[in-house]
Amino acid sequence: MIRDFLVWMATELGKGPGDTALSWSDALASSLNFWGLLEGTHVLTLILFAGTIFVVDLRLLGLVFRKTPVSVISDRILPLTIFGISLMLITGLALFYAKPLVYYHNLWFRIKLVFLAIAFINILWFHFRVQRDVAAWDTLERPPARVRASAAISLASWILVIFFGRYIAYDWINCGKPLPDWINVAQECRTSESGAVNLRGDLLQ
Ligand code: HEM
Repeated sequence: MIRDFLVWMATELGKGPGDTALSWSDALASSLNFWGLLEGTHVLTLILFAGTIFVVDLRLLGLVFRKTPVSVISDRILPLTIFGISLMLITGLALFYAKPLVYYHNLWFRIKLVFLAIAFINILWFHFRVQRDVAAWDTLERPPARVRASAAISLASWILVIFFGRYIAYDWINCGKPLPDWINVAQECRTSESGAVNLRGDLLQ
């Protein structure tokens, strides 16, 4: 069902009359500069987003700026982080929209989305649970264990989002190549345009 929707989104949405007309997704994917601008912005915004959230996480872990209250750092930095993540989400969705079926059958992209979900659940947990009694640990050089745990989950999940985001562009395990069965299954290669090929080179039905 998801794949059918993505096929429609990639091939029909925004398509004008006539056989040669491009869908919006195809137009974006074949744009000379705009796609590059999107990808570039996605990467550059990383500096702003990851750079700022790592500073707050390292303070919550009690590793940097230990004499500065947590609230002072997060109040100053968080607006930059929110601006950064908004741009990352917008450019990321646009990048996905340009080649939805390529990324749908991409294991790195799928794993990245899993860690993105973990990172967002952790943000909700921190803001609606952990941070409720911030007054009790705001000035502590080493905040309590649950605060440090949330900061460690944040740091680890964002580093893994970046790591697997970077891998998306590499075609090592693209569908259609001889792959172990578990990768063919994890990428749903059987339904992809290139199909699923096992390590013996057989095309799987
Ligand atoms: C908000 C946190 C996010 C972070 C930290 C992040 C990070 C990254 C990184 C580091 C790359 C590699 C860029 C490169 O060097 O080529 C990347 C690529 C990519 N990201 Fe994200 N991303 C985020 C959100 C998203 C979202 C929400 C989507 C879409 C649902 C997305 C879609 C993509 C796509 C499609 C690529 C691959 C572009 C290509 O073909 O090279 N990203 N991301």
